[in-house]
Amino acid sequence: MPRTLELNDGSAIPALGFGLYKVPLEETERVVAAGLDARYRLIDGAEFYGNEREVGTAVARAADRGIARDELTLTSKFWGDPDQSPAAARKSFEATERSLGTHVDVYMIHWPRPARGQFVDVWRELIALQQEGRVRSIGVSNFTQAHIQSLIDETGVAPAINQVESHPWLPQHDLRAFHDANGIVTQAWSPLGRARILDDPTIKKIANNHGVSPAQAIIRWHLQLEGALIPKSTHPQRLRENRDVDGFALSDDEMARIARLETGERTGTHPDERQ
Ligand code: A2P
Repeated sequence: MPRTLELNDGSAIPALGFGLYKVPLEETERVVAAGLDARYRLIDGAEFYGNEREVGTAVARAADRGIARDELTLTSKFWGDPDQSPAAARKSFEATERSLGTHVDVYMIHWPRPARGQFVDVWRELIALQQEGRVRSIGVSNFTQAHIQSLIDETGVAPAINQVESHPWLPQHDLRAFHDANGIVTQAWSPLGRARILDDPTIKKIANNHGVSPAQAIIRWHLQLEGALIPKSTHPQRLRENRDVDGFALSDDEMARIARLETGERTGTHPDERQ
């Protein structure tokens, strides 16, 4: 199974990273260090998380421990509230660079905010940043198929990544198929359904079959769907556990049993709800 996913711009990202949403400021440096020690090489951040300076400090310290900057993929996202203009996107991008103290590898639009009617113009600004050589890859987050289709129709450039909520209750099969058809990587946020799915009896049983934890079984499911994901934990032991998913594989039958858990239930906000 590939541990790296090719992007439509010719670069690649690790399939499995870790997320920093709601990681408290005073814990961020420690969590990033623990993640890097656990061999993660993709760190999913955002302006909105408010902890990019701390991420930058941890990344600088990692360099002292022999983890080169070019081994890492740092992602960030343009929040777009109160201002979702292209100029605001560029300003946010530059603020993120300053906070991190290093370049951004993947820059995304955090939410489409469709009622504002600006996400296509913001996308043009991200394309410009990429053409200027300031960012390797550009993507979006929380975009529906219709939103992405507008980007493609109006600019001819498909995002490299769409980061969306996805877990066994919300597998996003249709969106994944659309992404596949357009060379877009699906990157799941809340891949463990904010831990609520860990108690599901089917997941527990499948995990037991392999002598792994429910979190490991779900992470393996994401990887076998050929998706990227960014599970989050503030505990070093869980970060290691979530990274340790190479020693087993789910059978087709187990994948099918997990597919039947779909309820459509979200643990977060729907893309059209956030304006
Ligand atoms: P904690 O940070 O206390 O470890 P998601 O990534 O789907 O949003 O899920 C994140 C939630 O899942 C967090 O509350 C995190 O709690 C918890 N979590 C992450 N990994 C594990 C694990 N291996 N076992 C149990 N809970 C986990």
